[in-house]
Amino acid sequence: MLIRHRPDLTDNDVTDRGLYLRRREFITGVAGLGLAGLGGMAGAAPLAFTKGFSTTEKPTPKDDVTSYNNFYEFGVDKGDPAENAGKLKTRPWTVRVDGACEAPKTFDIDALIKANKLEERIYRLRCVEGWSMVIPWVGFPLKDLIAAVKPTSKAKFVAFETLMRPSEMTGQRWDVLQWPYREGLRIDEAVHPLTLIAVGLYGETLPNQNGAPLRLVVPWKYGFKSIKSITRISLTDRQPPTAWNLSAPREYGFYSNVNPAVDHPRWSQATERRIGEFRRRDTLAFNGYGEWVADMYRGMDLKKFY
Ligand code: MTE
Repeated sequence: MLIRHRPDLTDNDVTDRGLYLRRREFITGVAGLGLAGLGGMAGAAPLAFTKGFSTTEKPTPKDDVTSYNNFYEFGVDKGDPAENAGKLKTRPWTVRVDGACEAPKTFDIDALIKANKLEERIYRLRCVEGWSMVIPWVGFPLKDLIAAVKPTSKAKFVAFETLMRPSEMTGQRWDVLQWPYREGLRIDEAVHPLTLIAVGLYGETLPNQNGAPLRLVVPWKYGFKSIKSITRISLTDRQPPTAWNLSAPREYGFYSNVNPAVDHPRWSQATERRIGEFRRRDTLAFNGYGEWVADMYRGMDLKKFY
C-alpha cells in the first residue's frame, strides 16, 4: 500500500432475491463436503461448509494466497506476515459485538464457528495497490452476526477493530499506522449478503497471515477494508475512523469501492495484475460485483466519496 510515513435499505431489500435471480456468474449451492466441523483447533484444520455465491474464475494458488500478504501488524513487506504471524496466539479468542444494539455480546470464536452455517465463497480480492487474487473463503454472512445482537435504529455504521498485542504483533511497535487497525462500513454494506466473516480459506481454518481466527471480506471494496484478526465490532450512529483514512485521508477514503474511473492520487486504478498472471487486466467497477451492490451508491458522487 506504499506507506508515506513510516439510502436506507432494510434487511429485506438487500438483494437476497436479486442474488438468486441473477446468478449468471455464480455457481449454485451443492452439498457440504462432509468434512468434520473442526472449528476449535488452532493451525490448519478442515472446516465443514456448503458452497455459496462464487465466481467461476480460477482461484489463485494457495501458496500465493498465503505468502503474498498485507498485514502491517507483522511487517510491511509482502513476505513478512507469512514469516512473522505464526507468533500470534489465536486461542482463546473472543469478539465483542456491542454499541447500538439490544443484545451486546462477547462471542467465543469456537462457539461462533459452531453456531453459524459455514459456506465457501470464491471471491475476487482487489488490493488498492493494483494487484488482485481469487480466493476461496470459508465463512458466514456478517449480517447473521449483526442480527444476533439485535441492532437498534441508531445502528447506521459498523466499526471493526483488530487485536492490539505488540508482544506478538511486532509491527505494532512501529507507528506505521495508528494502531489498532480499524475499519468501518455503512450498515447497509455490512448486512449485504455478499459481506462475509471469513474463518477459513481453501477449506481449512485461516492461516494467521490471512487474518486468523476471523476477518472481514467485502469483495467489491479495496482489500484494505477487509480487516483481519477482529476482536471488536461496534454498531454506531457515526461514520467511524478507519486506519488508512487516518493515515492518508486524500488517498484512502471511507468507501473505497473498487473503481477503475477514480485513480489513486499516485497511480492509476484502471488495470490490475492478477497474481500469477503476466499481463495486466482491466479493473472492473465494484470489482465486478456491481449488479449486486451498485444500487447502494445510487445518486452518490463516487469521485467525492472515494
Ligand atoms: N487487516 C489488518 N488488521 N492489517 C492490515 O495491514 N491489510 C489489508 C487487509 N486487512 C491489513 C488488514 C490489506 S491492504 C489487504 S490488500 C488485505 O488485508 C490483504 O488480505 P490477504 O493478505 O489475506 O490477501
